[in-house]
Amino acid sequence: MKATTTITAQPGTTASRTPRQEGIVKEAIGLTDVKTLRARARQGIEDGAMTAGYKAKAETVIKLLNDALATEIVCVLRYKRHYFMATGISSLSVKGEFLQHATEEQVHADQLAERIVQLGGAPNLSPEGMLSRSHSEYVEGESLVEMITEDLIAERIAIDSYREMVTYVGTDDPTTRKVLEGILAQEEEHAEDLASLLKELGPQAHSHDSNR
Ligand SMILES: [Fe+2]
Ligand SMILES: [Fe+2]
Repeated sequence: MKATTTITAQPGTTASRTPRQEGIVKEAIGLTDVKTLRARARQGIEDGAMTAGYKAKAETVIKLLNDALATEIVCVLRYKRHYFMATGISSLSVKGEFLQHATEEQVHADQLAERIVQLGGAPNLSPEGMLSRSHSEYVEGESLVEMITEDLIAERIAIDSYREMVTYVGTDDPTTRKVLEGILAQEEEHAEDLASLLKELGPQAHSHDSNR
């Protein structure tokens, strides 16, 4: 004989609330009720990740991200130049650092471009005006110390501008903020690396400079 099973409803806590009560609870803690969320998501579906709940000024955020993108690309180019041009015994470890930074700046550029697209914008990768859109400069430098110094200055500029962008975005766009904060943390590491390289090279490098 086949056993029969009886399914009994579990006395749940939320299940016992009416949709109206649910709405009141959500409203009390500042959340949007399910009905409104669902209705909003259906509107402007072609906007992809951009929903009606997006609070920041997308146009401004896209502009800021594009300026940061130009900065990253200029940084990639400067680090690549330094990587290929660094010579001398003390350049061996420094070259590795330059190359690693170049690779990481490229990852930052890609993250920014990705976010720009998610926000409904287009990444500006045009070489025209790249340097004037960039926050940091492209300085080639002659000696190893000059190269590292210029890179450190560029990193310090990037740190300040990312910090300002994080403050501007605030809580209006948590995803962009997370991207910016991740990049900011890595720029701080870069600056730290360069500062210790400068210290290591210190006296030896300066005597080299004075011989030029
Ligand atoms: Fe970067
Ligand atoms: Fe960096």
